[in-house]
Formats: sequence, C-alpha cells, structure tokens
Amino acid sequence: MTERRISIAIDGHSSCGKSTLARDVAQRLGYAHVDSGAMYRAMALALLRDGLTPSELADNESAQREFLARHTLEAKISSEGKVELWLDGKKEEEALRLPEVAAVVSEVSAWPLVRSKMHALQRELAACGGVVMDGRDIGTVVLPEADLKIFLTASLPVRVERRRKELESKGIFLRNEEVEENLKKRDYLDTHRPFDPLRKASDARVLDNSYLTREEQTMEVMRWVQQILGGSF
Ligand code: DC
Repeated sequence: MTERRISIAIDGHSSCGKSTLARDVAQRLGYAHVDSGAMYRAMALALLRDGLTPSELADNESAQREFLARHTLEAKISSEGKVELWLDGKKEEEALRLPEVAAVVSEVSAWPLVRSKMHALQRELAACGGVVMDGRDIGTVVLPEADLKIFLTASLPVRVERRRKELESKGIFLRNEEVEENLKKRDYLDTHRPFDPLRKASDARVLDNSYLTREEQTMEVMRWVQQILGGSF
C-alpha cells in the first residue's frame, strides 16, 4: 500500500521562522519544501533586472501584464528533492536574498496579476501532495484544502532579536528599536493589503515558537502529522 502524502500549509508574520520550520518538517517527511516568498522575490528580481522600479508599473495593469509575459519562472525539484527556482532559464538562490530585492518585493507581491501567476505555480507544485509550503496566504487562499494548516507566531521582542541577529550575520548593524519599527511596518503591510492579506485560517493550528527550540517546534508539528496520518509514516 502506498503511503498517503499530505499537504501542509505554514503561514505567519515575517521573522517567525516559517521557512526553517517548513524545511525541517519537509526533511523529516521526505516532502518538498516550497518557500512561496522566494517566488515573489524572483519576480522582484526580474523587475530590477528590467531596470524598472515598482512605482513605474504600479496601477498600470497592461505594463504589469507585459512584465509577466517577458519572464518565465519555473520550479524544478532537484534529485535531492529540493525545490529550485529558475528565472528566465537560470537557477536563482543567493540573488533572491539581496537587500535591493527585499526593498521592492512587498510592492511587487501586492500586484494581483503577480499573485495569481504565483498561485498557479504553487498549486501545481502541491497537486500531488507531499509538500510543505510556507508563506502568508497558503492556508487561506493557495491551499484551503491543505491537510494541516499552521499559523506560526512568536512574540515581537523574540522576533526583533532573531531579525537583528540575522542582519548582524550579514554585516548589517541596527538598533533593536529600528528593527522593531521595520517589523511592525511589514506586519501592517502584510495584514492590510487589499489582496490576500495575512490572516489565520479558521481551521489553522496556532504554534507559538517564542520559547521553543528548533527541534521542539518540529516535533510538535510531527505529532500533528502523526495524528492526521494515524501513525502511519
Ligand atoms: O517570506 P518572505 O520575506 O521571503 O516574503 C517575501 C515577500 O513576499 C513579502 O513581502 C511577503 C510576500 N509574500 C506574499 O505576499 N505571499 C506569500 N505567500 C509569501 C510571501
């Protein structure tokens, strides 16, 4: 009998550790990890490579349509089961994390045409199950039928500390107050944008990882997976 392969949606604010949790759970289960934020980052990178800024295309649907038609984004599963993003035929990874990409991605990801193109790609990847996808609208919009939905949270001081350390490791030194302001601004944008704002799905399980180790949070999710699969993995 073939083992059932479920789909898992993980949503939450930025700097809660969604991608780390999604990657760890996917690895334990032998599933694919889909980082949906990376897809929006790829589109932001494409825009920068066109020499454009988001404000030049904002409120101009036909220019956005032309922008999307100029680029291809493919998601390929590597031999190790890793999801690779190929923008215009080239595999992208480090460039997606550039500060200039981070600076424009929230605007690009707010365009409905970009969102519907990314949603189609995300649903295609999840079509056969065996996927852990993290983002802002996965349990609410992309995979409302996901077998397990998780809304990941952490207290603001804990998120500030995590984000400050992450920036520090990249040689960017900011005061806690500046990091906090930045996170609050991103939270506001994520939860107040007109299309697919960040919300907890009504049937999502809340996981607060403020005081959990990486192993503890993974084990908590693995317990939920076990309940769903009836201990059959
Ligand atoms: O998680 P991240 O920082 O890599 O996300 C990058 C951007 O994409 C961020 O502005 C939020 C947005 N995003 C989104 O709108 N929907 C998703 N499912 C995932 C990310």
